Amino acid sequence: MDIRNANDIESAQKAVEERVRDKGLNLLINNAGVLKHQGFPEITEENLLFHFTTNTIGPVMVLKKMLPLLQRAANHKTTGMCISRSAVLNLSSTLGCITTAMDEVFSEFLSVMGYRVSKVALNMAMRIAAFKIKEQGILIVNMCPGWVKTDMGTDRALIEVEESVSDMIKTLPELNESHHGSYLDRNGKVINF
Ligand SMILES: NC(=O)c1ccc[n+]([C@@H]2O[C@H](COP(=O)([O-])OP(=O)(O)OC[C@H]3O[C@@H](n4cnc5c(N)ncnc54)[C@H](OP(=O)(O)O)[C@@H]3O)[C@@H](O)[C@H]2O)c1
Repeated sequence: MDIRNANDIESAQKAVEERVRDKGLNLLINNAGVLKHQGFPEITEENLLFHFTTNTIGPVMVLKKMLPLLQRAANHKTTGMCISRSAVLNLSSTLGCITTAMDEVFSEFLSVMGYRVSKVALNMAMRIAAFKIKEQGILIVNMCPGWVKTDMGTDRALIEVEESVSDMIKTLPELNESHHGSYLDRNGKVINF
C-alpha cells in the first residue's frame, strides 16, 4: 500500500482482517519512510510536507485503521504488554532526537531537516497514542534501526541490514509495559526525546 492513500490503507486493513480473523493482528510494523536532503534556509514547504505526509501522517493513519485488529489480538490475554500479545513498532530515527540535535556529531545531518522534523513529530504522535491507549494492552514503541546500508542509509552507513534486523528481532520479545511509548535504539536502550 501507499501509506499516503486512505483507500490503500482501507484495502490493506481488509486484507489483513481476512487473514487474521478472530485472532486479530498482534504486530504492526510501521516501516515506510522517505528522506530527501534539504537544509535550512533552503528548506521548502514542499520538502517539509513530503516528509510529514509519509513519515508522520502515514503511520498514524495506518495505526488508526489497524487499531481494532490490534485490539482484537490484545483481548485474547488479560494482562501485560508484549509483542506476542499486541504491539506497534514504529521505525523512527536518532535523527529525530531533540536533545542531541545541536551536538557537533549530528552537524553533517543538518541537510535532512524535513526528515528529522517528521521523525520528531512521529515520536510525539506515537507517544500521545501510547498514553491514550495505555489500558488496552497494545504496546507501542518507536525504534531506531541504526545507520543501515539501505537505499536511504546509503553505502556510507555503519551496519548491514542483517545486523540491524537481527538486533531488533532480539530486542522485540524483551519489551514490556515499561517500554510503552518509549523511543529506543535497536538494542532496547532508551534514546532521549
Ligand atoms: N537506513 C537507515 O540508516 C535508517 C536510519 C534510521 C531510521 N530509518 C528508518 O527505517 C525505515 C526503513 O528505512 P530504509 O532504510 O529501509 O529506507 P529505504 O531503503 O529508502 O526504504 C524505504 C521503504 O519505504 C517504502 N515507502 C516509502 N514511501 C512509502 C509510502 N508512501 N507508502 C508505502 N511505502 C513507502 C519504500 O517502498 P518503495 O521502495 O516501494 O518506494 C521502501 O520499501 C524508515 O522509516 C527510515 O526512516 C532508516
